[in-house]
Amino acid sequence: MSSPPKTFHVKSFGCQMNVYDGERMAELMAADGMTAAADAGSADLVVLNTCHIRERATEKVYSDIGRLRKNARLEGRTAPMIAVAGCVAQAEGEEIVARAKVDVVVGPQAYHNLPRLVADAAAGTPALDTDLARLAKFGRLPARRSVAPSAFLTVQEGCDKFCTYCVVPYTRGAEVSRGFDAIIDEARALVDAGAREITLLGQNVNAWADADGRGLHDLIRVLDRIPGLSRIRYTTSHPNDMAEGLIRAHGEVESLMPFLHLPVQAGADRVLRAMNRHHTRDGYLRLLDRIRAVRPDIALSGDFIVGFPGETEAEFADTLSLVDEVGYAQAFSFKYSPRPGTPAAEISDQIAPEVMDDRLQRLQASLNRDQHAFNRASLGRRCTVLVERRGKLAGQMLGKSPWLQSVHLLTEAPIGALVEVDLIQAGPNSLAGVPVSPAAVAA
Ligand code: SAH
Ligand code: SF4
Ligand code: F3S
Repeated sequence: MSSPPKTFHVKSFGCQMNVYDGERMAELMAADGMTAAADAGSADLVVLNTCHIRERATEKVYSDIGRLRKNARLEGRTAPMIAVAGCVAQAEGEEIVARAKVDVVVGPQAYHNLPRLVADAAAGTPALDTDLARLAKFGRLPARRSVAPSAFLTVQEGCDKFCTYCVVPYTRGAEVSRGFDAIIDEARALVDAGAREITLLGQNVNAWADADGRGLHDLIRVLDRIPGLSRIRYTTSHPNDMAEGLIRAHGEVESLMPFLHLPVQAGADRVLRAMNRHHTRDGYLRLLDRIRAVRPDIALSGDFIVGFPGETEAEFADTLSLVDEVGYAQAFSFKYSPRPGTPAAEISDQIAPEVMDDRLQRLQASLNRDQHAFNRASLGRRCTVLVERRGKLAGQMLGKSPWLQSVHLLTEAPIGALVEVDLIQAGPNSLAGVPVSPAAVAA
């Protein structure tokens, strides 16, 4: 028994969907009468919204729990109540309770029950809910209130692809799409609450479909007509779900930004087969050709895994040559991490850590080179920048170009403004832009 928490702090790890979930949990607890604390150190309740994708991510949960308790002890405070949410909660719920004695464990499909679970825990009842109920939470969350100029909106969850290395189909469950009207309503609420850009989220967002046979492009075309919504993005897509209609939308829908995150993971067909990716290197490259044909300036992004079990040096070289061929504007790359319960973890031919380190370094050198080249190629372009926050230097604002590059605006401008700029400097990670005229800066 302890008194119910009055203040809370949510800390999210992992992907953008976890960030979205974290925001929704915070809204839920605020609606339940709790107040947001400035940081984890001063909160009565800390929600750790966790990620299970790689071993490192999972271990963070336990080190964070230890640190929160130790700091409270050193400062003579009562330890906060700890709720573990997110994908580690789903995958290892019982283990977390046994190993770290946390008060609440709640999975990604059950967090609408968080206030009740917290109340149960405060009353002395252990609280664990890892029900994978489809879409149950969305109907039970409070309305969106105040959001940043660039907001996330989950439209699809779960994954049926079962790539052999990946835990997501187990932690998020089967693919399921939210209904058309619920999504449009939430998008309108986000725009009313201040969003100018919405990124539609899903583990396989381009698999979004509804009972009436509509696909993601239909959703995008309706969102395009919402007054005040200037930019639409979506992530993450699977190459096999890039429907013709979605490709066409990239050439036709003005608010759909010229950026596509389309993970390929590896460049050798044998590795892609062992990963159960269901596409070949060539199939992926031809798909990019079709997208570039309708939207020549599209910026491409990807995810890569190095050191998948059995990956030879020659196969890794295929990944490097694919990167050379595509010329990504940005990308994420990871060392393969064996995950319990996934088929790839059972393959005997695991790659030595020093080989993975070396491959990751070489891959990242190529990806950084291409990112810098893409940024340099943007010099002299005129484009809009959505102002998202203040920069580190006085009088400087930070925002994003249509191609998702970070742009420093060398002038004051209101947060949420879309400013037309000329791009005048390009570094490896960001660009600098100047407004084309003083009038361009008005919100
Ligand atoms: N649904 C998305 C993203 C899934 S997770 C997609 O299929 O693209 C994000 C990225 O993490 C993956 O694209 C992959 O590159 C990486 N990843 C997933 N499992 C991994 C593992 N076991 N080890 C290393 N990286 C992994
Ligand atoms: Fe994981 Fe593959 Fe599904 Fe992406 S498509 S979430 S990598 S199983
Ligand atoms: Fe991590 Fe779960 Fe997202 S495992 S990457 S938080 S779907």
